[in-house]
Amino acid sequence: MADSNLLDKELTEDERLKGGKKKQKKEDAWKPEGPQDPFALLKSLPETKQQEIQRALHLFSVGPSLPKTLQQARTHTYRFWDSQPVPKLGDSSVTHGPIVEGEAAVRKEPYSLPSGFVWDTPDLSSPTVMKELCTLLSENFEDEDDNTVRRDFSPEYLQWALQPPNWLPQWNCGVRVHSNNKLVGFIAALPADVRVYETQKRMAAVKFLCVHKKLRLKRMTPVLIRELTRRVHQQGLSQAVYSAGIVLPTPISSCRYWHRPLSPRKLTEVSYPGLRQNMNLPRALKFYRLPETTKTPGLRPLTDADVVGVHSLLQANQLRFHLSSAMSLQEAEHWLSPRENVVDTYVVEGEAGTLTDVVSFYSVSSSVLNHPVHTGLRAARLLYAAGTATDPADLMEDTLVLAKSKGFDVFCALDVMDNKSFFENLKFNVIDKSVRYYLYNWMCPDMSPDKVGLVFPS
Ligand SMILES: CC(C)(COP(=O)(O)OP(=O)(O)OC[C@H]1O[C@@H](n2cnc3c(N)ncnc32)[C@H](O)[C@@H]1OP(=O)(O)O)[C@@H](O)C(=O)NCCC(=O)NCCS
Repeated sequence: MADSNLLDKELTEDERLKGGKKKQKKEDAWKPEGPQDPFALLKSLPETKQQEIQRALHLFSVGPSLPKTLQQARTHTYRFWDSQPVPKLGDSSVTHGPIVEGEAAVRKEPYSLPSGFVWDTPDLSSPTVMKELCTLLSENFEDEDDNTVRRDFSPEYLQWALQPPNWLPQWNCGVRVHSNNKLVGFIAALPADVRVYETQKRMAAVKFLCVHKKLRLKRMTPVLIRELTRRVHQQGLSQAVYSAGIVLPTPISSCRYWHRPLSPRKLTEVSYPGLRQNMNLPRALKFYRLPETTKTPGLRPLTDADVVGVHSLLQANQLRFHLSSAMSLQEAEHWLSPRENVVDTYVVEGEAGTLTDVVSFYSVSSSVLNHPVHTGLRAARLLYAAGTATDPADLMEDTLVLAKSKGFDVFCALDVMDNKSFFENLKFNVIDKSVRYYLYNWMCPDMSPDKVGLVFPS
């Protein structure tokens, strides 16, 4: 952080972490206090029993929870975020620019971890390490509140999501348990050229913040964020863009997820949340029926030869939004080129051979838990839809047909860009899940979701 005030506040947070020493031994800083360690107790039980208890604890949790609404946020004390260069909740900015000016003084050594934990830069080229990362994220990234589905991360997906052109190994920041080398914490960032209103800046796009469930609420997150910030500062960058479901100081936009069932029978059987209430199965099957084939002439999968045309289409489209990506040709190639079970992109080729439209979605796989019939669920999430010739609702209906034919069970999209224009007609349902966008060390007026042109595959 650049100014001494912020450094002071950082120290306070470090001291607080270390202050735990007075009450607890240093090596126990991330363990609960008390005569018997409940984690040790839990660990001594069989795995299935442990899982049952954890699910029950989660469902009936009365512990401190992070604010999910602005109203809850008003009464929450942000011990960490109040020390960071982010706008305070309730402040509405009319100006544009950094909150802390100038180059940050970069601390040379990594932030200290409580004894028993070590920093690690996971080597993504190692299949073993990739598997460990997949396990950490699959088991801990999403809270299966209702105990029905669990997200599955594959090495192919993470290679795509974490290794675009110019990615930096040191921006993948892991925490391991020293004694057994278990990966228990992770945060990553990617370099990205981001346009915010009239300013274009190279920033860190932060993703995949994850702390093992057994180490939650122990303030590991602030340490991960500080260490990543230090590594970002080392590259001379001072801004970051990130998204989160919870309310932090201060969202620049709050967006919602919409879901379009493609396999209503399966979704009903697994009690998927994105279904309309009060609709029985026969009605749902009829209501969500889709045409067998697509109708847009010239619609076909993207090939290598299309990348240049698609890049210019997207660039022109992105200028319409207040928050968008100024991606390079190589980045467009990375994010859009079809990869099996990871990302699909289709283009519309007009009569003269020019590309007029593009639509792209990525694949999110989950395991269905405790179900007698179903084991997996596949969601397609909309990445980009941009065009000049095809009606957006027609293009999206064809996209739903293609996604269904590829075995996806549901199609999800945020209400960013122009997406809201086709949700109602195409029978998308809004679910109670928000995604808030944030900028680190940058203030600007907030914006409605339709002015957001950026989607983070996470
Ligand atoms: C998000 C997660 C790492 C938070 O861990 P935690 O154990 O609940 O929180 P910690 O005790 O380590 O840290 C608490 C601090 O981190 C902040 N924090 C929590 N979640 C955050 C997030 N997603 N982004 C940024 N900061 C976050 C809290 O606001 C709090 O700071 P505050 O005192 O200023 O309010 C953890 O819940 C997790 O791994 N969740 C599943 C994956 C996930 O949701 N990742 C975020 C994707 S955007």
